[in-house]
Amino acid sequence: MADKLIIFDTTLRDGEQSPGASMTKDEKLRIARQLERLKVDVIEAGFAASSNGDFEAVQAIANTIKDSTICSLSRANDRDISRAAEALKGANRARIHTFIATSPLHMEKKLRMTPEQVLEQAKLAVRFARNQVADVEFSPEDGYRSEIDFLCRVLEAVIKEGATTLNIPDTVGYAVPELYGEFIRTLREKIPNSDKAIWSVHCHNDLGMAVANSLAGVKIGGARQIECTINGLGERAGNCSLEEIVMAVKTRRDYFGLEVGIDTTQIVPASRMVSQTTGFVVQPNKAVVGANAFAHASGIHQDGVLKARDTYEIMRAEDVGWSANKIVLGKLSGRNAFKQRLQDLGVALESETELNTAFARFKELADRKSEIFDEDILALVNDESITSEKEQYGFVSLAQHSETGEKPHATIVFTVEGKEVHGESDGNGPVDASLKAIESHIKSGAEMVLYSVNAISGSTESQGEVTVRLQNSGRVVNGVGADPDIVVASAKAYLSALNKLHSKADRVAAQG
Ligand code: KIV
Ligand code: ZN
Repeated sequence: MADKLIIFDTTLRDGEQSPGASMTKDEKLRIARQLERLKVDVIEAGFAASSNGDFEAVQAIANTIKDSTICSLSRANDRDISRAAEALKGANRARIHTFIATSPLHMEKKLRMTPEQVLEQAKLAVRFARNQVADVEFSPEDGYRSEIDFLCRVLEAVIKEGATTLNIPDTVGYAVPELYGEFIRTLREKIPNSDKAIWSVHCHNDLGMAVANSLAGVKIGGARQIECTINGLGERAGNCSLEEIVMAVKTRRDYFGLEVGIDTTQIVPASRMVSQTTGFVVQPNKAVVGANAFAHASGIHQDGVLKARDTYEIMRAEDVGWSANKIVLGKLSGRNAFKQRLQDLGVALESETELNTAFARFKELADRKSEIFDEDILALVNDESITSEKEQYGFVSLAQHSETGEKPHATIVFTVEGKEVHGESDGNGPVDASLKAIESHIKSGAEMVLYSVNAISGSTESQGEVTVRLQNSGRVVNGVGADPDIVVASAKAYLSALNKLHSKADRVAAQG
């Protein structure tokens, strides 16, 4: 039997550390459900001690998710570890992931601790964590730039204290594949009790080598857990991308000889959900989940694929969740067909009320757009107003006028806590006028730090999906809106961002 490769997803912790990618508890829960459908082995749900918001998110995920192990990050101190243990109480399987930096630079400049103090704290932390849960992961932060003999002493000691997984982070993305793989192999060879723990890799993508480094850690180093994020989300250049790792190991099983438990048909829905929630758009040429990942433009390639698919395709689009038959529904489709399509796409709405709301939105859309694609359906059900409780602001209607040589003007009607209000404004263009019309009433004082439009299914008949990122008093939020009219989509995205900005939820991103 082939060895199992454990997939540890840290989209909700390390991924969320990306500036602008912070998520609400509801958003994290929605993504955690999708990660469970994807069958990831471990979900790092957050950093419970970093904020009340993160504590609540970890707790909600631990209480809800049944099939994956739920993990919380914690620094190597009793307070953090106790918070993590408390948040994880409801989990079927709980893991505490504790870390402390071990590189000379981090110990001296950041921690201002001697190596002996770091060693002692690492041992105490793992001992304390093992008294709370049976599954304890230890990470020497900036491990790859640590002095190897010291690292061996730390890792040998934490294994003795009961660490069950040892993770070797390339925190700053400095590694190259062969050297990283050999680094892990050397650690495993030098540490006498190394066979008592599972070895894990955690690579950042600063030099674009996170996936290659992680695979080398597995192939050369013998690691059996990979830490990764959906779409490679993460600080700076991001983390190792889950979809690339999983498809590399599956497609080249002949080389890696490993099993992964992932349901790959859930990859594209997961990618879309994360991109929609965070506003981090997936580049078209991104491997596996980019819009062009399976598109053949050149005549020679198209001809080849038509004759025999494997002339130019090494994976099947439908195996990673791209639908083979893209036109799915229209205005005559009924509730059952809609429900069935949601099931085929792996979308599980939690209640009949949510299904009814989604179906009503689908009917409205089908009245305006003759062909409804899978992407339209996913955008529709990813709209948080379907699953969230009452929202403060809601879109009602918009009228705008723009003509060459004239200043565009917009009038908007929206609800504030259920009551209709009107706003109007001129602007540089119709979108600008519409958003200023909202602001004429709300006066949020927020600064817009990102505005992006994406055609959901390619053509000009497609829905426009707009992301708006707002910043106010140190808080950064993303709003997303979809509509065949991009000015309306923009207004919906702006209201969605304001809903998050003005919600009471604590959205402080975790720091690791
Ligand atoms: O990159 C890193 O070092 C981390 C650790 C906290 C595991 O994210
Ligand atoms: Zn990291």
